[in-house]
Amino acid sequence: MEERRGRRIIMFPLPFAGHFNPMIELAGIFHHRGFSVTILHTSYNFPDPSRHPHFTFRSIPHNKEGEKDPLSQSETSSMDLIVLMLRLKQCYAETFRQSMAEEVGGGETVCCLVSDAIWGKITEVVAEEIGVRRVVLRTGGASSFCAFAAYPLLRDKGYLPIQDSRLDELVTELLPLKVKDLPVIETKEPEELYRVVNDMVERAKSSSGVIWNTFEDLERLSLMDCSNKLQVPFFPIGPFHKHSDDHPLKTKNKDDDETTCWLDKQDPHSVVYASFGSLAAIEEKEFLEIAWGLRNSERPFLWVVRPGMVRGTEWLESLPCGFLENIGHKGKIVKWVNQLEVLAHPAIGAFWTHCGWNSTLESICQGVPMICTPCFSDQHVNARYIIDVWRVGMVLERSKMEMKEIENALRSVMMEKGDELRERSLKLKESADFCLTKDGSSSKNLEKLVSHVLSFDSYAFAS
Ligand code: UDX
Repeated sequence: MEERRGRRIIMFPLPFAGHFNPMIELAGIFHHRGFSVTILHTSYNFPDPSRHPHFTFRSIPHNKEGEKDPLSQSETSSMDLIVLMLRLKQCYAETFRQSMAEEVGGGETVCCLVSDAIWGKITEVVAEEIGVRRVVLRTGGASSFCAFAAYPLLRDKGYLPIQDSRLDELVTELLPLKVKDLPVIETKEPEELYRVVNDMVERAKSSSGVIWNTFEDLERLSLMDCSNKLQVPFFPIGPFHKHSDDHPLKTKNKDDDETTCWLDKQDPHSVVYASFGSLAAIEEKEFLEIAWGLRNSERPFLWVVRPGMVRGTEWLESLPCGFLENIGHKGKIVKWVNQLEVLAHPAIGAFWTHCGWNSTLESICQGVPMICTPCFSDQHVNARYIIDVWRVGMVLERSKMEMKEIENALRSVMMEKGDELRERSLKLKESADFCLTKDGSSSKNLEKLVSHVLSFDSYAFAS
């Protein structure tokens, strides 16, 4: 695709897989439409640019260059997410400003900045100062965003902070959510959580538009609700990863080939794929219950255990002696997989997931039924929609993660409720496929987005 000369988009992702991946996918979509893309990326969790040769990468150093890295692995591994977010904003605000000024001063027309919605005010201030339009990318779903946008009301009405005695109460203002589904994050700084969420919502309101990795048929009502609240141009153009076969994250390595080889040997729809995304951590006790639950289910399983995911351990050392030999070829435990490839494999029968938004969409796009164990934030909202609205999964609450419960849930999804769930999952997959056809809503919204971004040239930003 020939690049539109002088049409550069600058992107500023949040440095976590669940946020970085959709931004890179969006970069691929813009590139395919002839734009050139520069990714400004924090030195924290810096990606490998050689995997994405179509884009220009610029690393932003942290503010305290020359000093000890305030976001080193040892500093951040035990930090709660909200504290980490605050540190990221503090550490990169000033150097982000300098990097933007350098990019924009380079002589080439910069159409706009596309930043992760969570960066909030630091991107708003810089974009205004420099005179560049700012579009935000919301990497989560619209349904969870509605719940985030309702935080002030939820606090006023006493739903937040969550009280254990009210967990099963319906939130009548946000049906079908119950109190336990509200998107909260455990933190030692609860006021900061409210500030981070408020910043995301308010800076989306003051943006020149919001891009969503979702599609209208999936979240129509929530999108309408968010649109009424935000009153800015809206572009639901997802699922991003289905826009092109030439997908920037589809590169494979040797371990992926081994996993595919193992999956090739399994019967169709027989394997449970278990993964809890890139951030969630579990206790050792939960880890052992999962291990035994998977083992006792007597079904083939593929389980992603990220190094460090089990608190206090490196990887698998807390498994009882002989456990791995005992499961033999029946199960496979890996550190990371190419999830898009795995979910597309015909052997996969169900996805046991933490319901991160990317995992949710990826599963929907492959028509794979889900077992939902949400851990924090938007995952609770996503799980409620998977179970009660789209009805393509069932719950396995984290508080009930015991081997017997796990065994029962796996049996139910693979056997008793299997056909029903799979049938609905395949219907939902069809609507995901349709939204990206020529007449589909996401294709049309993408056309509107491209025109919107191109129209920015004619605007003189009031600085
Ligand atoms: C986080 C939050 O948990 C999530 O709720 C929010 O919506 C986005 O940020 P994460 O925990 O990483 O995301 O989950 P998810 O959104 O599902 O993203 C994980 C990404 O990593 C997916 O794109 C998935 O395909 C990929 N992945 C995960 C792999 O490629 N391999 C793996 O082994 C595990």
